[in-house]
Amino acid sequence: MSVQYFTYKGVNFSPGSYSHESLNFAENEFQVQDDDVYIVTYPKSGTNWMIEILSLLRTNGDPTWCNSVPIWRRSPWFETLKGQSQIIDVTPPRVLSSHLPFHIFAKSFFTSKAKIIYVLRNPKDILVSLFYFCKMIRIFKDPESFEEFFEDFLQGNVLYSSWFDHVKGWMQMKTNKNFFYITYEELHQDLRGSVVKICEFLGKELHEAQTDLVVNNSSFKAMKENKMSNYTLLSQKYLDQTKGSFMRKDQSFSIAQWDLNPWVLQSRVFQGITGDWKNHFTVAQNEYFDKVYQEKMKDLNMKFFWEDI
Ligand code: A3P
Repeated sequence: MSVQYFTYKGVNFSPGSYSHESLNFAENEFQVQDDDVYIVTYPKSGTNWMIEILSLLRTNGDPTWCNSVPIWRRSPWFETLKGQSQIIDVTPPRVLSSHLPFHIFAKSFFTSKAKIIYVLRNPKDILVSLFYFCKMIRIFKDPESFEEFFEDFLQGNVLYSSWFDHVKGWMQMKTNKNFFYITYEELHQDLRGSVVKICEFLGKELHEAQTDLVVNNSSFKAMKENKMSNYTLLSQKYLDQTKGSFMRKDQSFSIAQWDLNPWVLQSRVFQGITGDWKNHFTVAQNEYFDKVYQEKMKDLNMKFFWEDI
């Protein structure tokens, strides 16, 4: 079955998860509460990782809640049809998720004291992650080929449209005291330090041992083994689990496999699962990506972690 996206205010959405009404509701009618925290991301940037971290912060590191309630029920997406029906069950203080771009985010946020944690990731890795995810998820367009998807991503012809616009839109908030941004790569490089920074932003105090619990219980391994967080419980109607795994890449890749490709060898500095684009991009694709990136990001005047590698 081929999926056709529709647009809402210039952004692509899938009719399997959204409608004009659900998006209009999210933008114009949804009531943000002062003690809400929103995890906002472009898809595949580490949204669920951040949900797991914030779920664990709520319980001071105790994994019981994470191990008993599906991740999408702990922090529903407030713009999706399903998420909007699940929000009623979320007890405040709510942690809600969203992939909405800045220009169509809930208007009521901007007059509230609520907070946003925006997670960014190297767009090259997002492209690869999204490619595999689109192959599994039935309500998104199934890419014909990596080459075609590569071009679609750069042109913004994918779900949620352009990564560049998403990031540039949200970075307008970067000096707002209720806005905190962090990269997937920082989480990956120093999860403990990242958890400490997130606590500072949220005004949450944790003991050393509780911080350790948050870090250990939100590791890739812990999430991959937790059926409440690894999406294996999601209906086959949405996700074809025979085509892959939501927790796609892990650190158990052997050194020998990494060694096959000299670019990948370099990526050990990324500690394993970041830099997977090097397994997928040709040299020409990488040069083309960099050219588009530089052109589209030139006005932002920000340098991200991945640009130096
Ligand atoms: P890959 O497909 O590159 O493996 P999102 O939650 O925004 O959809 O992002 C999904 C990506 O985050 C996937 O990346 C997934 O493996 C990765 N991810 C999820 N939990 C993680 C964790 N605890 N540690 C590292 N990566 C994680």
